[in-house]
Amino acid sequence: MRTHLCGALRAADIGSTVTVCGWVAKRREHGEHLAFIDLRDHTGIVQCVIPGTVDVRSEYVISVQGAVRARPEGTLNPDLPTGEVEIGDCIVTILNSAEPPPFAIDDRVEVDEGIRLKHRFVDLRRPRMQANLRIRAMVNHALRSAMDRQGFVEVETPLLWAPTPEGAREFAVPSRLHPGSCYVLPQSPQLAKQLLMVAGVDRYYQIARCLRDEDLRADRQFEFSQLDVEASFVTQEDILGFVSEAVLDAAEAVTDERPEPVPRMTWAEAIDRYGTDKPDTRFGMELIDLSAVFDGTEVKAFGAPCVKAIVLEGGGTLTRSKLDGLTDRAKGLGAKGLAWFRVAAAEGADRAEGVGSDWPSLVLDSPLDRFLSDGERVGLLSATGAGAGDLILVVADEYRTACTVLGHLRLEVGGRPVSEGPYRFLWVVDFPMFDGVDEAGHPIAAHHPFTMPHPDDLGRLESDPASVRSQAYDLVLNGWELGSGSVRIHRADIQSRVFAVLGIDEDEAMSRFGFLLGAFRFGAPPHAGFAVGIDRLVAIFAGEDSIREVIAFPKTQSGSDPMTGAPKALAPGLLGELGLQVIPPRD
Ligand code: AMO
Repeated sequence: MRTHLCGALRAADIGSTVTVCGWVAKRREHGEHLAFIDLRDHTGIVQCVIPGTVDVRSEYVISVQGAVRARPEGTLNPDLPTGEVEIGDCIVTILNSAEPPPFAIDDRVEVDEGIRLKHRFVDLRRPRMQANLRIRAMVNHALRSAMDRQGFVEVETPLLWAPTPEGAREFAVPSRLHPGSCYVLPQSPQLAKQLLMVAGVDRYYQIARCLRDEDLRADRQFEFSQLDVEASFVTQEDILGFVSEAVLDAAEAVTDERPEPVPRMTWAEAIDRYGTDKPDTRFGMELIDLSAVFDGTEVKAFGAPCVKAIVLEGGGTLTRSKLDGLTDRAKGLGAKGLAWFRVAAAEGADRAEGVGSDWPSLVLDSPLDRFLSDGERVGLLSATGAGAGDLILVVADEYRTACTVLGHLRLEVGGRPVSEGPYRFLWVVDFPMFDGVDEAGHPIAAHHPFTMPHPDDLGRLESDPASVRSQAYDLVLNGWELGSGSVRIHRADIQSRVFAVLGIDEDEAMSRFGFLLGAFRFGAPPHAGFAVGIDRLVAIFAGEDSIREVIAFPKTQSGSDPMTGAPKALAPGLLGELGLQVIPPRD
């Protein structure tokens, strides 16, 4: 129906007769003899000049035939890629009429998200959303090509599945043929891909749809996609290589620039320096250890196993109420309190002449200052390197609490939107095998119970589980967890030991993971894998801070779809057929 796309016309096309199709973005009439239409398709907008009047309105679907010509002098539009040309002497054919759109199809117009999602088909016409869908397709294509090139085979795994051991809540699908029984939608193809390794597939991948009934956030939807990967006869090193190649290819496909090879950090270092297992390494503000400075201190608030600080450059201007807010936040995160020190230049008087080099010129403004010894003041300033105008935030607590609380505060006072450049990928490796203990005193698996312990730590599995590292690893981008994976346990003896430490007895293991453990008896190769969250990857590449912006039809924060009205009650007939009865919600 067309010879050209609207946004593609350039000065080189002058003189050609073209037919373009699209939606009426704007219409202007100049008297009875001249009308202008801005015609839009997914590539952009072109100006069409009609000799006479034309009865079209916004969002009518039309086809326009005419000759490309240079715009008259003084009417060039440098903001438009097609701004040097127009289509003249146009003949317009109306392909379909349209009701007025519920909102302007313009990236600059802010529209309530509920209204956008109710009319998503109109919202997606906006250039930004068109670009996002295309970036997503580009990323999927690059990921697929990279995996194909590395010898991986795409295998589709079932959506109707049985419960998996991964912890997040599952969506249930009632069965008509087995009334009262349910399938669950897979949270990930984890078990299926491990079975494919037993099946000898060797290198599997899938752009897999995963479903999790969790609370929704900017980086979480019920339905999302993973680049899911599993390979046999490989080490952790191999997996990091395969996945790095795929995500760097995707970055290059979108930005035309290949990021640096992905750096690595151990989990312990990430916690120590950034207070989180997903450090945003786009900015510094690293955690500073002050335990030595306050060793044996008289200051009660600092009498804790660990004293750590962060420095907010220029943060000395923060108001008292803002600082009180941060203190409340720190307490909310589990700290006993938050100490703050505003650093200022001393006016004239040297309060402690001769102590340290920079010290005499700086004073600390803090309710705690009068309790510090001169040595502690010097220590605090020299360890943090804080200067006039800066703010020092200190948490004294157990090691993990001090790190985590400051890790959160670092992001809250110094963080920036996830999508803001540059891209900082990071591998976090050597996660602990266990994290915390359950009510019965058994360690809790940090990844999942099939994760292989670090070979150097296997001997301490029973005697000191808290010190055992696992062969689990995460990929982080700009402070978002982009993906995770592990080397799996393929040997029954190691698996039994891990189950025993976790307090899972043989009966429970068989009832929860029986079919996997059963399959492993038939020759399970050593294997390892990974899954990258594609929605998160695309959002960051598209410059969006919410994955909803890169999903064609997402759910709202409260899990509904204003366009279709889902979720909805089932008709009584269908309920009966499925063997279900609805218990009315309690008030
Ligand atoms: P995990 O549960 O860590 O690992 O998931 C891997 C990645 O998937 C993305 N992701 C999500 N994205 C959007 N919305 C969600 N609700 C959501 N949940 C997870 C994240 C996350 O890092 N089977 C294992 C992987 C493996 O061990 O091979 C798994 O699914 O980017």
